Amino acid sequence: MQEDFKKYQAQTTPYPLGLEVDYAKGSYIYTTDGQAHLDFVAGVSACGLGHSNPKIITAIKNQLDRYMHVMVYGEYVQTPAVAYTKLLAENLPEPLTKTYLVNSGTEAVDAAMKLARRATGRQEIIAAKNCYHGNSFGALSLMDYEERIAPFRPLIPEIHHITYNQLDDLAEITEKTAAVILETIQGGAGFILPQNDYLKKVKTRCEAVGALLILDEIQPGFGRTGKLFSFEYYDLVPDILVIGKAMASGLPIGGFVASSALMDQLSDHPKMSHITTFGGNPVIASAALATLQELTSGTLIAEALEKEKLFRNLLQHKLIKEVRGKGLMLGVICENAEIANQVVLEAKARNLILFWLLYEKKAIRISPPLTISKAEIEKGCRVIIEILDKMESRIKADC
Ligand SMILES: Cc1ncc(COP(=O)(O)O)c(C=O)c1O
Repeated sequence: MQEDFKKYQAQTTPYPLGLEVDYAKGSYIYTTDGQAHLDFVAGVSACGLGHSNPKIITAIKNQLDRYMHVMVYGEYVQTPAVAYTKLLAENLPEPLTKTYLVNSGTEAVDAAMKLARRATGRQEIIAAKNCYHGNSFGALSLMDYEERIAPFRPLIPEIHHITYNQLDDLAEITEKTAAVILETIQGGAGFILPQNDYLKKVKTRCEAVGALLILDEIQPGFGRTGKLFSFEYYDLVPDILVIGKAMASGLPIGGFVASSALMDQLSDHPKMSHITTFGGNPVIASAALATLQELTSGTLIAEALEKEKLFRNLLQHKLIKEVRGKGLMLGVICENAEIANQVVLEAKARNLILFWLLYEKKAIRISPPLTISKAEIEKGCRVIIEILDKMESRIKADC
């Protein structure tokens, strides 16, 4: 399998982690060599309800027995997508009532950018430095990371950048701006939280100049930060909300939500302004519905904050400078990038799954399933601390 993996399946890096997966359950991924790996990453925040959650599996199986795909998005009335978008609207503030379901986060971002241009008749889109919104051309064009974008030029025009949390930059949002797009919590940049009413001030500036605010909740959304959506902490409502990742507990999906008045513009001039074959797929929408029902009926979301406290208590070490983030979206910032890298690799050898962040190389990603138990958190953190203790001894011995 390892050989065929490299030979036939296109790689994203020359050094994939390469765990050979047999099955996954709860907080563990089981490999074909019989080992159990404690998962502190959850498919990069996509498996909020843990692996193979029985409620999600039942919902998927029930739908499989009825129908899988009958028509392209939006033509037929299909109960799973309708029930899902209704329940989502019931859990969002006005005027976020209408959802367009697509296949991935990056597609949702592209479609939200199209909606903003269509609705305002303007072209300029403002994004934040060090943002990450996905890898299709629209989302990629929002990046300012030269190494990642240079080979793919020309990107889409009229994209400008401001510095996240920098109030002076808000003057750059003007009557020419169609939309400002921001991650509610910056992920790849190092789990940076908005400070000093930043998002509210961006929204106020957008309103003053007639621009739309798009918030990307693809990573923090669906309970990860202790609220269903993390913008709820910051006393504002975006014009367009972009969602994905944990939405269907590990099946591919994305979506964007806006007011009816905004969203209806995508169905005319031109008709079918954004179309997709599989968006709203009934099997995936059933998984999304079961996910949202589970999140909104239980205590998992509130527990994310208690679990955050436990992580913060346990992850104290001389080689850890800071733990950033909110809820179960945590970045452990190490003394340097080499330490972070070694911890991820040594943890893998000790059956604990950790991961890196895209830009902040000193960070170790911790984004476990929301269903992780306290005992599992303690077990994983013990491994991290033991690895760091050994490193500290090695560093001392070298001095
Ligand atoms: C904040 C954010 N936006 C967009 C995306 C892109 O989503 P997808 O990988 O589903 O296209 C991601 C994925 O990591 C993300 O974290």
